[in-house]
Amino acid sequence: MLKFKFGKGVDKKIQALVKDLPKNGNVLDLGSGLGSNGIFLVEQGFKVTCLDKDKEVIEKIKKEYPEINALNKDILEFDFPENKYDLIIARAVLHIFELKDVRMIIDKVIKSLKNNGLFYLSVFKNDHFFNKEKLEEYFSSNQILEIEDDVIKDNHSPEGEHIHKVIKVLVRK
Ligand SMILES: C[S@@+](CC[C@H](N)C(=O)[O-])C[C@H]1O[C@@H](n2cnc3c(N)ncnc32)[C@H](O)[C@@H]1O
Repeated sequence: MLKFKFGKGVDKKIQALVKDLPKNGNVLDLGSGLGSNGIFLVEQGFKVTCLDKDKEVIEKIKKEYPEINALNKDILEFDFPENKYDLIIARAVLHIFELKDVRMIIDKVIKSLKNNGLFYLSVFKNDHFFNKEKLEEYFSSNQILEIEDDVIKDNHSPEGEHIHKVIKVLVRK
């Protein structure tokens, strides 16, 4: 049995986005964990790529959902195709990276979206980059559809029950 892994619940914002996406559109989930958001989207008819550097979660997705393109890769080594995706998700993953890599990844994400494609970013808040002011500035040449602070409850070892301040951004290319 797998030890604790992230990526189990379906994000309500992603559920709500389905109506705004083209039917059978292409979705990329960066740092998908067990891929619950990708699984939900593939069940809605989207073509989904889940990418995670954790081999175990990718093997599990591959076995149970062969229709998902599950890639065992580091985001930093992923060759982002240009103008391909209707939606790119980066949920609870980008705050792990150094700021220079965050900027590089987001630039690649934007290039990898089709025109009018959506980027959904949800990350732990911080003073360096992941806050309202800095993100509004960073995405100033795109259309920010939503930007909001939130608090989420989490429960995993070693901390047990705890909360995180998060910021969620939905951007249109
Ligand atoms: C906190 S979990 C979030 C999982 C899922 N996105 C969710 O929202 O539940 C972070 C995931 O990112 C993956 N990850 C961390 N660094 C990564 C990297 N450099 N490249 C690809 N995946 C990475 C981890 O293996 C883990 O599955």
